[in-house]
Order: sequence, then structure tokens, then C-alpha cells
Amino acid sequence: MSTDQATDQPPRLGLRRDGLAPDPAVTAMRDAGGTCPVTTLVGHRATLVAGHAEARTVHGDPAFGFEGLPLPPGVGPAELAQRRTGMLLALDPPHHTRLRRMLTGSFTVRAMKALEPRIDAIVEQALDAMGSAGAPADLVTAFALPVPSLVICELLGVPYDDRDEFTARAERTLRSDLTPDERRDLFAASSQYMASLVARARREPGDDLLGMLVREHGDLPPAEGGIDDDELAGLANLLLVAGHETTSNVIALGTLELLREPTQTAALRASLDDPAALNRAVEEFLRYVSPVSAGFPRAASRDVVVGDHEIPAGTVVTASLCAANRDPVLGEDLESLDVTREPGPHVAFGYGIHHCLGAPLARVELRIAFSALLRRFPGLALAGEPEFRHEHLIHGLEALPVTW
Ligand code: HEM
Repeated sequence: MSTDQATDQPPRLGLRRDGLAPDPAVTAMRDAGGTCPVTTLVGHRATLVAGHAEARTVHGDPAFGFEGLPLPPGVGPAELAQRRTGMLLALDPPHHTRLRRMLTGSFTVRAMKALEPRIDAIVEQALDAMGSAGAPADLVTAFALPVPSLVICELLGVPYDDRDEFTARAERTLRSDLTPDERRDLFAASSQYMASLVARARREPGDDLLGMLVREHGDLPPAEGGIDDDELAGLANLLLVAGHETTSNVIALGTLELLREPTQTAALRASLDDPAALNRAVEEFLRYVSPVSAGFPRAASRDVVVGDHEIPAGTVVTASLCAANRDPVLGEDLESLDVTREPGPHVAFGYGIHHCLGAPLARVELRIAFSALLRRFPGLALAGEPEFRHEHLIHGLEALPVTW
């Protein structure tokens, strides 16, 4: 029995179970133009919306913000303030604007172009290792997880050798079945680890994101675009979690779908030398997989209309991004993957001021990862049943057995 049933809470309907489709109850609710009650990861009672326009309103209208959210059950104001420090996805303007501005230059399309050769090398190395270990392999641990993990570690300046220290924590952070005490312990352990990295970057700022932030912003007051060590630790923690879990699950779930749909694999193979076609396929993987099942919950600061609904001030609202990306208003046959589809305005990266900072990085990683995987292993096939991950905001696979 789930905790929800045990405590008579509304279900966590924003999340998915086996397969890639949104919960059918959420799809039905979207098609009826409705909303439904849900509980959020931290235990807020919230309203779920699932239409594409509704998701854009909740993410894009300044009436919705994070700082007006009520305290989560069992969390005091001081603890909440601590958890929010540096956490872009918990801040409204002007705090959000100041921190985000420091980072935008590091994630431009041009900055990502410069990273491409290094991402290429990381991808090739992972495929070499998988090839020499021999079939069968678990694509998640051999490829889908280590590639984005190595990339974000290098970019940030986090020692990859510490990965045992943080990958399990990164995975647990966005689980929905943690107790308040488990969430508190997890936060304390992550903060301690991040604080040690920030201290190291202060001593010897390297040629990475943490080093850049310390050098360019670390000694300025906030009013002049400065950042303090606690904010740096919070920001680095967010980047580490966000940079790991999302891209890796698009690689894993996208590959699963390709292996189940040979016509899609053939279509993608035919596009490997056509950058525009490859970009279209990446957008379709993002739309179809939508690994962030639901956006972070926001609170309405005033009465606001979302779709056909009047949402009263103070309501906590969250949007099902996976259902919004299959909203029939966006096109036809959206329940299936079509790598040749003309990209539409999907919300896999969210929308508005919190639109994913790492989107340009994720797009480059996905382009390189999918094309290298298909080139290297023309005979790639499923070697067993995939193991889906449950109770997690970021939908994904625990394991994907493959052979070639
Ligand atoms: C925000 C999805 C990769 C860093 C978001 C949001 C979504 C998202 C949906 C907005 C959540 C909301 O507003 O409720 C994805 C997907 C990815 C991906 C689908 C991969 C396929 C990355 C990577 C990084 C990253 C690689 C790190 C470099 C961030 C950050 C934010 C964010 C820092 C917060 C931005 C802000 O609040 O201004 N992402 N993400 N993401 N993402 Fe990503």
C-alpha cells in the first residue's frame, strides 16, 4: 500500500509508473479540461493541471511563484530558508534573476559548441568500455548515466571519483517516498559535501564553473551581483542533480523506445549525417520522454485564470509536463514517437523564467549520445525487460539490458 493510501492523501498523479505514457487518469483529466488534487513531493496539497496552455500559464505567469509556497509539513521557516539558498527552482525575482544571470553565459549555445569535442570524447570512451566488456550490458550503468555525469562533473569542477558520494544522493533527492526526516538528512549530507567543494574552489579556483563563480562573483556584495558560499553550495547542488538525472533518462528511455520500434531506429539511422534531422529527433525524444514528469509546484500570489479555471490566491499548482507534451492541441498522434516530426513548442524543459538553464547542454549531449550509440552498435537490441523507476519526479529506468 502506498503512503498516499495509508494517510488518505490524494495520489501523486503527476508521476508515472512503467512505460512512458502519463497516468491515464491525468490524460483523461487533461482532455476533459479539468484539474485534480495531488500531493507534492514535500507533502503540499496541490492542484494538478495537464493541458499545454495551462502548463505554460503556471510556468510563465508571474502570478505564480515559489516564495509564497506554504511551509511543507514538518519544516520550519529557518530550515526552508536554508533549503532555498542558491536553489534557482525555489526563488522568485529578484533573487532568481541575480543568480541566473551569473550562469547564463556558461550555458549559451556557443559555450556548448566549445564543449562538443570533450563530450564526443566522453561518449566514445563510454562506448569503448561497453564494447570491450562485451554483451550483454546494462545501458543505464554503462552509458546513459556516466556520460551526463562525467560532463556535469567536469563542467562544474566536481571530482568524478567522488561519484559514489553524490550519485545516490542526486537520485534520491527527487523521490516522492522520502519521509521529512530522510529529506532533512539528505539535504544535510549534500550541503556538507557541496560546502567542502566550495571551500576547495575558494582555495584554488579552477578553470570550471565553480572556479569562475568564485573568481567573478565570490567577493562582491549581492547588490553588485555577488554570491556567498552558502548560495554557491546550493547552486552547485542543483546543477549536479539537474545535470545527472534528466539527460541520462532521455538517453535510456529514448533508446528503449527505439529498440521497441525498428521503424524509428531506421529513420534515425538515416538521419545520422543530417544535423537538422538529428536535431528534430532530439526534440522528439525530449517531447516524448519528458523525463521531468511534473514541474515544480508554485503558489498563486493572486486570483488567476488557468485555462477554464479560476485559481484562488494561495493555491499550490503543479503542471504535468509529460501530459502537456501530448496535448492534442500540439498535433496528431502524439502518443507515439516519431523522430521525423517537426518540433513543436514542447515544455519538456519547462517554460518562462525557470526554463531549463541546461537545455543547450542537454541538446548537445543527446545529439552526440544517440548518434554515437547507433553508429557504434548497429545490431543493438533488447536483452531483457527494462526496469522502470517509480515514485520519482524524474521518470526513468533503473536498468536497460541490451546486447549487440
Ligand atoms: C530547470 C528539464 C537538463 C539545469 C528545468 C526545468 C525543467 C528541466 C522541466 C524547469 C522546472 C520547473 O520550472 O518547474 C530538463 C530536462 C533535461 C535537463 C528534460 C535533459 C534532457 C539539465 C542539465 C542541467 C540543467 C544538463 C545542468 C547543467 C537546470 C537548472 C534549472 C533547470 C539549473 C533551473 C533553472 C531556473 O530555475 O532558472 N530543467 N533539464 N538541466 N534545469 Fe534542466
